[in-house]
Amino acid sequence: PTGLLADALGRPLRDLRISVTDRCNFRCSYCMPKEVFGKDYKFLPSTSLLSFEEITRLTALFVAHGVQKLRLTGGEPLLRRHIENLIEMLSQLRTPDGDALDLTLTTNGSLLARKAQSLKDAGLQRVTVSLDALDDAIFKRMNDADFPVSDVLDGIEAAQAAGLAPIKVNMVVKRGTNDDQILPMARHFLGSGVVLRFIEYMDVGASNGWRMGEVLPSAQVLDLLRTEFTVEALEPSAPGETAQRWRYASGGSSGEIGLISSVTQAFCGDCNRARLSTEGKLFMCLFATQGHDLRSLLRGPYSDAQIAGALAEVWAGRSDRYSQLRSALPAEAGQASGERRVEMHYIGG
Ligand code: GTP
Ligand code: 5AD
Ligand code: SF4
Ligand code: SF4
Repeated sequence: PTGLLADALGRPLRDLRISVTDRCNFRCSYCMPKEVFGKDYKFLPSTSLLSFEEITRLTALFVAHGVQKLRLTGGEPLLRRHIENLIEMLSQLRTPDGDALDLTLTTNGSLLARKAQSLKDAGLQRVTVSLDALDDAIFKRMNDADFPVSDVLDGIEAAQAAGLAPIKVNMVVKRGTNDDQILPMARHFLGSGVVLRFIEYMDVGASNGWRMGEVLPSAQVLDLLRTEFTVEALEPSAPGETAQRWRYASGGSSGEIGLISSVTQAFCGDCNRARLSTEGKLFMCLFATQGHDLRSLLRGPYSDAQIAGALAEVWAGRSDRYSQLRSALPAEAGQASGERRVEMHYIGG
């Protein structure tokens, strides 16, 4: 009973984001602020994690339903033990047309220098590395765990050497915290082959104390870039993409940059992403409050066909478009409403 799906708003399912751990060695203020995620914070016990076999079984069913792109996230996915084994298992999967999947991972880069080659050998195609500043003091203030910029740059270099391309770098921009790093980051990655993406600070989860005043709209990031570079818009490379793509057009310099504007220009319209949490709950939106428990199906007496049917039913009922609805609300209303939203370290980005 598999086939291509459409949700209640006609959107297909193309992208599965799999969180493999809720733990992280950083404490970024916009994601896992220390005040909330301190020494006493209870992370998931190992028995509640999906095993690699369970993840692979489920992912195969998603792929049969049209998923073409897999992203491993966390927390910090490189903290999950033997993650290479999972990558190896997932890299064997094929679409109904027999094609390999786009298999990638989002990491904070702290363990990448050590792991880049083994990840590549296991079948990972590319990586996205988060880096919010080039200035050490600013970066350490943001990761709140004393990690230096050089660790992450070493990781990026190792990933380049291993051929995990194209490498993307994600910079979350917080007005008044790291907006003075936009131009230094752009200069640093210009011509390096790395795609730098500026992300609007989002009101995700319920712990980061988000305020609209700390968002620097992408339009202003672009204005700032234009004080120094000539850039021109690129066509989207795939429907439902998160980033608006731009390229440098000045003085022979080449390279691409991206703007991810989920606050000021929501991209729910063709959002084709589903998210699987570390403990096997399926979420239909980054801002969802409830997931669908797939682990109990995996661990119960159900056939693949039955589980595939359950997935199809959940996707068919999907009408989430949080960012779009939020942008219709007054500026400070985002955090005010209703149930507690799922946290970023739990669901991945
Ligand atoms: P590529 O396939 O490499 O373009 O990756 P991606 O942009 O799909 O994923 P990535 O993990 O690099 O995410 C970039 C930023 O966009 C992060 O801040 C994510 O949290 C955010 N993001 C990703 N998907 C969504 C989404 O569906 N909705 C919203 N609002 N934000 C998203
Ligand atoms: N707003 C925007 N991006 C965020 N990320 C984590 N928390 C937030 C937030 N509140 C980013 C990380 C990573 C990606 C998966 O999501 O920096 O690059
Ligand atoms: Fe860890 Fe990434 Fe969250 Fe930072 S944004 S705390 S690196 S999971
Ligand atoms: Fe998709 Fe939800 Fe993000 Fe909109 S807010 S793009 S529906 S995940």
